[in-house]
Amino acid sequence: MSHLHNTLAPELPDPLDLTHHLSRSTRAREASSVKEFYKYFAIPGIGQLAGGLPNDKYFPYDTLEAKVAHPNRWKPSSPNDPVDPPTDKPASASKSKDGPSAARLLVPHDSGNPDPLKMIDLKSALQYGTAQGYPSLYSFIRQFTRENLHPAVPYKGGPEVILTCGSTDGFSKTIQALSDEWSAEHDPVNERPGLLVEEYCYMNAVQTAKPRGLNIVPVAMDEEGMLAEGKGGLRDVLENWDFSRGRRPHLMYTVTIGQNPTSGTLSVARRTELYALCVKYDIVIIEDDPYWYIQFPSSSASSKAPKPNKGSGFEFLDSLIPSYLSLDYQGRVVRLDTFSKTMAPGCRLGWITAQPALIERILRITETSTQQPSGFVQAMVAELIMGPQSSSDPGRGGAADGSGWKVDGWVRWLEGLRGNYERRMDAMCNVLSDGKHLIRARRRNLSAQAADEDEWTIVETTKIYDFVRPLGGMFVWVRFDFSTHPLRWQVPAARLSQALWVLWTRKPYLCLVAPGRMFAATEEIARKDAFNCFRLCFAACPAEEVKAISQRFVDGAQAFWRIKSKERIDELLGEDAEMGSVVGGDASLALLTGMC
Ligand SMILES: Cc1ncc(COP(=O)(O)O)c(C=O)c1O
Repeated sequence: MSHLHNTLAPELPDPLDLTHHLSRSTRAREASSVKEFYKYFAIPGIGQLAGGLPNDKYFPYDTLEAKVAHPNRWKPSSPNDPVDPPTDKPASASKSKDGPSAARLLVPHDSGNPDPLKMIDLKSALQYGTAQGYPSLYSFIRQFTRENLHPAVPYKGGPEVILTCGSTDGFSKTIQALSDEWSAEHDPVNERPGLLVEEYCYMNAVQTAKPRGLNIVPVAMDEEGMLAEGKGGLRDVLENWDFSRGRRPHLMYTVTIGQNPTSGTLSVARRTELYALCVKYDIVIIEDDPYWYIQFPSSSASSKAPKPNKGSGFEFLDSLIPSYLSLDYQGRVVRLDTFSKTMAPGCRLGWITAQPALIERILRITETSTQQPSGFVQAMVAELIMGPQSSSDPGRGGAADGSGWKVDGWVRWLEGLRGNYERRMDAMCNVLSDGKHLIRARRRNLSAQAADEDEWTIVETTKIYDFVRPLGGMFVWVRFDFSTHPLRWQVPAARLSQALWVLWTRKPYLCLVAPGRMFAATEEIARKDAFNCFRLCFAACPAEEVKAISQRFVDGAQAFWRIKSKERIDELLGEDAEMGSVVGGDASLALLTGMC
């Protein structure tokens, strides 16, 4: 337990006992009898006859080596000034005053460290291990989480962590822990569990929960995220719950920063209102926050990013809107973190942070499912950040001198990433802002020969779409107004929307955007509203192409608003149907879904 939590402990309440929310199978789980032996493995000189471990001398990997970035590879954005030069090519390998941009990482076969918390080597990482994660990496993440990311979680003892194979895995285990499977054929309806979600949400979560029989219950949202009050807001949904649908939901899935897909960022004030309702109705909040570090001060209306007094030790971390954990005096928040957006999705590495009793149950689920994330990944990440743990350790970390990035380096890396994404967001939003309106002009003086601007007069300005500059994340959510399209009386809006999507995929526009219906929490939302919306992801675009691609999106939209013949719409949709077997329809949607 950290010093920090020891000193705060006397005033803080114990986390609530949430056993009543555990699923039957999770309640019944017992500690893996094999894993219980692990603590004895570390006894110096003990003859190892108990475990069924293969011999590490026969692992075919002698070392793992890689060329890796220095933590300062990318330029951070200064608050409210993101438009510094977009030099996001890796700095040249030639020497600069910071040294070469890449370091040589080496994970040795044997680090020579007897202490499991300092051991980063293949003989341990590629062996069977403990379900909470590779001890050295687990202890780094635990400390970073408790002391830097969320230094003020207001319950006694603070939170515990467990490593996962990414947030998808974290969510799946959390849902397994906290809900029983339900089926209409076998179970009474009053036992049906429910999951509250934003009305537009990350569909992987819905696709995890729905097959378990959970009611997917949308909550209305605005540009920040979930609404606490008002029609369709959380209070309305819970107070007026129709019990013929099942139990009042006891779980909430929410993405609070740079929400996928709407890019909303939930303020502390809104979180406080929502948390109070979750206390009142005994709801567990699953906060999935892959975009937390990618918060954009330049989009904030106030001249400075909010600075809650968190005392993480890092100005960058202090400037981020704090997690739900910082309000969580009852221990009802399960937070999912991932390395997918800060290192690489293929790492399949993340962690869950929650009150210790819940983490213990998730540990039991882990013991009999994934056991732990891949040892290759854990060793590579641990060596990169932590580096060799003694002077005789032959490993090399990610810093220029062969030590690890350490916490400072990791935070610097996160700041650099934020800078790169903020510059892309800025470039895209500037182009989108300029292209919102379709302007029709005509000559003021028809006899005039010169085409001077003075001779033209604007006769009509039509707003074709709108969007809110994101305060975080990787997406821009663009909402169209098909009621301003010239064919609005002849062609239903959903059909216009589909034709517009097709037009964008054609020359000269050539851009693929994600249609809103991919993220609609229910069929009703898909039918009534989703066709108005599209999600644009600026993250993967090469920096030098963001403007041009965004301009093609705008040009396509403007060209679409100039279409006056219904036949052209039919033609576009017909062409798409023909392409269906190759890339169209569900196939292309599946591809986009795969892209998250
Ligand atoms: C909201 C959200 N949660 C989870 C994920 C997937 O995370 P992971 O790769 O850690 O499973 C994504 C990926 O796009 C996401 O947007």
